[in-house]
Amino acid sequence: MNNKPYRILLIEGDGIGHEVIPAAKLVIDATGLDIEYDYADAGWETFERIGTSVPEETVEKVKQADATLFGAATSPTRKIEGFFGAIRYLRRRLDLYANIRPAKYHPVPGAIPETDLLVVRENTEGLYVEGERRYARGRVAIADRVITYDASYRIAEFALQLADRRKGRLALVHKANVLPLSDGLFLEAAYDAAKKYPNVAIEEVIVDACAMRLVRNPKQFDVLVMENLFGDIISDLTAGLVGGLGIAPSGNIGEDAAIFEPVHGSAPDIAGKGVANPTAAILSAAMMFDHLGEYRVAAAIEKAVDLTLDLGHRTPDLGGDAGTMDFARIVADKLRDVLDESKYNL
Ligand code: NAI
Ligand code: MG
Repeated sequence: MNNKPYRILLIEGDGIGHEVIPAAKLVIDATGLDIEYDYADAGWETFERIGTSVPEETVEKVKQADATLFGAATSPTRKIEGFFGAIRYLRRRLDLYANIRPAKYHPVPGAIPETDLLVVRENTEGLYVEGERRYARGRVAIADRVITYDASYRIAEFALQLADRRKGRLALVHKANVLPLSDGLFLEAAYDAAKKYPNVAIEEVIVDACAMRLVRNPKQFDVLVMENLFGDIISDLTAGLVGGLGIAPSGNIGEDAAIFEPVHGSAPDIAGKGVANPTAAILSAAMMFDHLGEYRVAAAIEKAVDLTLDLGHRTPDLGGDAGTMDFARIVADKLRDVLDESKYNL
């Protein structure tokens, strides 16, 4: 039990962020932990209101919190002067360099049993430095893709530590056959980092083959590490292996701050209808408690989600008719049971 309250910052963001974060809070309230909540704004609605998508106050609050739970933020697909993507900005500004995206089996339709993967995505560089230009009267566009030795080394080391604690297997996902200077540097740094982890077996996998092999047989992998864009794409694929975006959580981890968030976006097509699946946000809260060292609470939340799903409660994305808050209320009730009863071996 914590003797000081945990300072948890909630950022709803846009769209279904306004629904899944309050739903996850219901579950967090049921942990029985001593928690001091704070709230902050970020995203498109914030930009429309005050002209910036991430106010300085939000950055400060994320730094001061023990951990942050973030909903989702909308980014328009056209260029808008002065706008920047909220979560991308926070990741880079706070140097939240490691994006962990687990894809673990939960009892939902279409999920592949026993899947238990960890995608570790480099979160600060690659194409996400957002260095784009147009030339030739707008008919040629170039985007910078930055790979550095240091960022590659540290993300590889982060993944190696996880692999060492799990099954001792790490896949380095790359495209060095086409990009030997940039992805070659990623591999070089990763192999240097691996010298300190002799117990971890390394496998190199070219990203396109990786996508195919994941679909054919996800169990052949355990921890996978890759640069930013590959991680963005591959982690949506692995989310698809276990039931889709509605249940995929993630964490953005740095030395001084951490933000946990569902992999999904603001889902404008269903926003405001009360039908968004809160499971991804709830499992992100579980990851947050794991990060804070509350391992029993983290395991209990996962158990409560599985018990709820096992009973057939499901939101429409999974073929059911449960509403966001109803589903969360059931998870919260199950969580209280799980934490009360010693029969659950957590
Ligand atoms: P999306 O993840 O918002 O939605 C993709 C599809 O999945 C939609 O059909 C949506 O209804 C469904 N979906 C997503 N989450 C769901 C949930 N919890 N329950 C039930 N169904 C769910 O991705 P999309 O449509 O590509 O992007 C929408 C907006 O979100 C864009 O502005 C995009 O930039 C932003 N986005 C933000 C992210 C973030 O804040 N981390 C991540 C991805 C997208
Ligand atoms: Mg994505």
